[in-house]
Amino acid sequence: MSEQTRPLLEMRGVSKSFPGVKALDRVDLQVYPGEVLALVGENGAGKSTLMKILSGVHRMDEGEIYLEGKAVSLPDPLSSQKAGISIIYQELNTLNNLSIAENIFIGREPIAKNGLVDRQRQHREARALLDEVKLPLDTQTLTGKLSTAQKQMVEVAKALSFNAKLIIMDEPTSSLTNAETRTLFDIVRRLKARGVAIVFITHRMVEIFQIADRVAVLRDGQMAATMHARDTTEADIISAMVGREIGDLYVKEVAPLGEVALEVQGLSTKNRLHDVSFYVRSGEILGFAGLVGAGRSEVMRAVFGIDPRQSGTILVRGKKAAIRKTGDALRYGIGFVPEDRKEQALILDMTVKKNMSLAALDRVSRGWFIDRLRESRLAEKFVSLLRVRTPSLEQRVKNLSGGNQQKVVIAKWMANEPLILILDEPTRGIDVGAKKEIHKLMSDLARQGVAIVLVSSELPEVIGMSDRIVVMHEGRVKGSFDRRGVTQEEIMQMAVS
Ligand SMILES: Nc1ncnc2c1ncn2[C@@H]1O[C@H](COP(=O)(O)OP(=O)(O)OP(=O)(O)O)[C@@H](O)[C@H]1O
Ligand SMILES: [Mg+2]
Repeated sequence: MSEQTRPLLEMRGVSKSFPGVKALDRVDLQVYPGEVLALVGENGAGKSTLMKILSGVHRMDEGEIYLEGKAVSLPDPLSSQKAGISIIYQELNTLNNLSIAENIFIGREPIAKNGLVDRQRQHREARALLDEVKLPLDTQTLTGKLSTAQKQMVEVAKALSFNAKLIIMDEPTSSLTNAETRTLFDIVRRLKARGVAIVFITHRMVEIFQIADRVAVLRDGQMAATMHARDTTEADIISAMVGREIGDLYVKEVAPLGEVALEVQGLSTKNRLHDVSFYVRSGEILGFAGLVGAGRSEVMRAVFGIDPRQSGTILVRGKKAAIRKTGDALRYGIGFVPEDRKEQALILDMTVKKNMSLAALDRVSRGWFIDRLRESRLAEKFVSLLRVRTPSLEQRVKNLSGGNQQKVVIAKWMANEPLILILDEPTRGIDVGAKKEIHKLMSDLARQGVAIVLVSSELPEVIGMSDRIVVMHEGRVKGSFDRRGVTQEEIMQMAVS
């Protein structure tokens, strides 16, 4: 890529409003052939909206788009695809009851002479694409059976099949393991070498320096800065994003430890978990580290009554707890922020306010009635504490940006004032500033006596926030550390063997 080359894509003065929100305000953007452009910004800054204009999902109110110097209009996804633009959405939209091959070729299945879908050819072509993204799965596997990471890779394979000139990836790495991220980056480099341009959205600063040539920073719907990755620093990027200093990683304050709030003894499930035991005291944050697939989420799901246990005992405040379904867990004062917010945590069609008060009905009800004023106050408090970007409490959650939806999930459980709070990857997809606010809230809750279990694949987060750290490997607890003095390397070593 060089300045002399003509941009592959140019957006000029692009504006877009939604009811009550100016999502984009006269944005200019250039993307050059063969470059990787990192598009960054706080939750709700307008990244996904800008990209959805390119993919034909949203229509801009004002502005112009040029592809290879020619003005284009992209009124719908098909025109955008035809123009050579491919997008992998932040909220994956694979169809779970179709096979991998069907997902890749939906709407453009190869047709055989007899007029029917040429399944052989579809299979063959899908196979080649899966090999390219190193996904060793049968092309006939139902997509619903895949992990999020695997679905992500199917989407990448699909984008490859279009031979796109521009591929947009909206937070592709947020649900990938390190190894999967490396595979994805290999693919990105190969595409780049072929002259494909890539727009890459991420909240992880390190990734920018691993993969991006240039960085474009959106702030409040405006283009705040564009820079070359090689002559910028993380601090520069963050300050362009948030317009203020945010300082270092938040570290949990020391809180007095109380009684053992939750104890799990000998937990096993049918195929995954073997004899998992741990405890957490009130006021304590217990971190769970391990590779993706080590079984951490499975433990939490079993404790919360989502997945059945085969054996094992759960004790809440020293007493045996009969948890068979999530309703039971709630009654014992357990709260749970799951890994997958769409599947288990939010009612997308309901308002911000309702979603936040749902789990806290006790706290906002008087007898049979919901106290509307208290309900609003509670929601207002968390919207401002977590800086949820929404035009009002009445906004439907599906209209919020991805990161802001995640903030609503966290608010929902914090508002519920649980005795025990389980957080599974709570800051995934959350911007750097908001992440710190969430860490501070966790620390405050611990000081108020809540026992917190934190599952996170980000070791600095686990080390910074936990009093003790449990390391899992292949469905078992491998060991534990006191957080003082433990290094990322020590944890990793235990996690891999
Ligand atoms: N369909 C919609 N209806 C109403 N408002 C919307 C809609 N889509 C986006 N918005 C609003 O537009 C703004 C920009 O959202 P966008 O999804 O582009 O943010 P983002 O930068 O991708 O954030 P994140 O990092 O959280 O994914 C937000 O205030 C969001 O609530
Ligand atoms: Mg987004």
